[in-house]
Amino acid sequence: MTMIKGIKGVKDLLPEESPRWRFIEESARRWSTRYGFQEIRIPIFEVTTLFARSIGASTDIVEKEMYTFQDRDGTSLTLRPEGTAGTVRAYIEHNRAAIPVPQKYFYSGPMFRHERPQAGRLRQFHQFGVESLGMADPRADIEVIALLWRILSHLALPGLTLEINNLGYAADRDSYRPHLVAYLRQHEPGLCPNCRYRIATNPLRVLDCKVPECRMITEMAPRLADSLAEPARAYFAQVLAGLDVIKVPYSLNHRLVRGLDYYNLTTFEVTATNLGAQNAVGAGGRYDGLVETLGGPTTPAVGFAIGLERIAMLLPESVPLQSLEEVTVYVAGFGGQGAAAGLTALEELRLSGIHAVSDFRSATLKAHLRQADRLGCRFTLILGDDEAAKGSAMLRDMETKAQYNVDLSILALRVRSFMPPS
Ligand code: HAM
Repeated sequence: MTMIKGIKGVKDLLPEESPRWRFIEESARRWSTRYGFQEIRIPIFEVTTLFARSIGASTDIVEKEMYTFQDRDGTSLTLRPEGTAGTVRAYIEHNRAAIPVPQKYFYSGPMFRHERPQAGRLRQFHQFGVESLGMADPRADIEVIALLWRILSHLALPGLTLEINNLGYAADRDSYRPHLVAYLRQHEPGLCPNCRYRIATNPLRVLDCKVPECRMITEMAPRLADSLAEPARAYFAQVLAGLDVIKVPYSLNHRLVRGLDYYNLTTFEVTATNLGAQNAVGAGGRYDGLVETLGGPTTPAVGFAIGLERIAMLLPESVPLQSLEEVTVYVAGFGGQGAAAGLTALEELRLSGIHAVSDFRSATLKAHLRQADRLGCRFTLILGDDEAAKGSAMLRDMETKAQYNVDLSILALRVRSFMPPS
C-alpha cells in the first residue's frame, strides 16, 4: 500500500516541539492582554473578494499565492492568507464601530499562502497578530510597535532589528509614483522580470525587491520621503519621538514597502539574524483606509502579525520551558491485583488534579521503571499484588530514589504532600 504523506510546505507539530510553541503563544497572549488587547477568533476561510479587495489585486499574495476554491454553490472561497482582512470584516459586520471604546483585538492561528517552501517559509504557517481599531493617533502606532518589540525581545530572539518607514497618505504616494515610474522605465532592462512587470502594476513594490541588480538600481531611485507633505511627516516624527521616549530601538528603512496594499503612514518589520533569506519575524503598519474599503465607517487602524514558525526556529534552547511542565506521577501497576489497583489509582490521581500516566504494555516493575524514566516522570507509584493486598503503595522519587509508603485510602493527599508546590 502506498504511504499517504503530508503536503509540501505543510508541517506537523510533534509533541516534542509543542512546549516551545505553547511558550511562545502564551507569552504573546500575556503581553497583548497587558496592553489591553482581547482575543478574536475569525474563520479560516472567507469569500475571495474580501482578500482581493483588502490585500490588493496586484500583490503577490492575491496574484499567485491564494488557496482559492469553489464552494458547492459556485461561490469563490479562499483560505485566509493573513488575519487583518477577516478581523476588519468581523469588525464591520458586528458593528463594533458603535462601541465607544477602542477595539483592540489579537488572534492566533494558521494562514495559507502558496509560496515556494523553504526554511521558515511554509504554505500553512501560523501567525499571532494584533489589530488596534479606532485611533488616528501616533500613540496607537507606538503602543502596537512597543507590544511587538516587547513580545519578541522577551523571547530573547537573537539579533532583532526593528525597521520602520513612512508610506505617507494616498495623496503623497500618488504624487511620488510618476517620479518613481519614470526612473524605473529608464532602468527597465536591468530589472528582474517580476520588477519589470511591477512597474505598471505596483511600482512601489520594486523598492523592496531582494534581487541584487534591482537593489542597485533602486538605491538611486527618487525617495518617497522627499514627496511627503507636511501632515505625513509630522505624524511620523511623533511616532519616532514616542519610540525614543519608551526606548524601543529602530532604524529607518526607506525601502520598506510591504507586500500588502492596505498600508499608509507607519510601516514596520522586525528581522532577526540566523533566519537566512526569510528573516522577517513580524511586520505590520497603519491601515487607515481598509475599513472603509470594505464597506465600513471611516476607522483608522494599526496592527502587526508575527510568524510563529520563524520564532520557534529562533527561540533559544535555554528558554525556561520547565515552567510549563507539570510534575507527573507514573503509576506502575503489575500483577493481577496490582494492575487493577493501578488503574483505580491513576483515575483517582487525575480526578484530584495530578498528572498521572502509565504504559499498560509493561508487565514487570523493571519495565515500568524504565518507562517512567523515559517519560521524565518525577515520581513512580509502585503497586504490585502485595501492596494492593495491603491497601498501600510505594511512592518512589525518581530523582532522589527515596521511597515512601502511601496509604491508598488517602492516595492523592499523600502523593501531593511529596510534590513541590505548584
Ligand atoms: P505579513 O508581512 O505578510 O503581514 O506577515 C507577517 C509575518 O508572518 C511575517 O513577518 C512572517 O514572520 C510570517 N509569514 C508570512 N508568510 C509566511 C510564510 N509563508 N511562512 C512562514 N511565515 C510567514 C501580514 O500578514 C499582515 N496581516 C500583518 C498586519 C496585521 N498588518 C497590520 N495588521
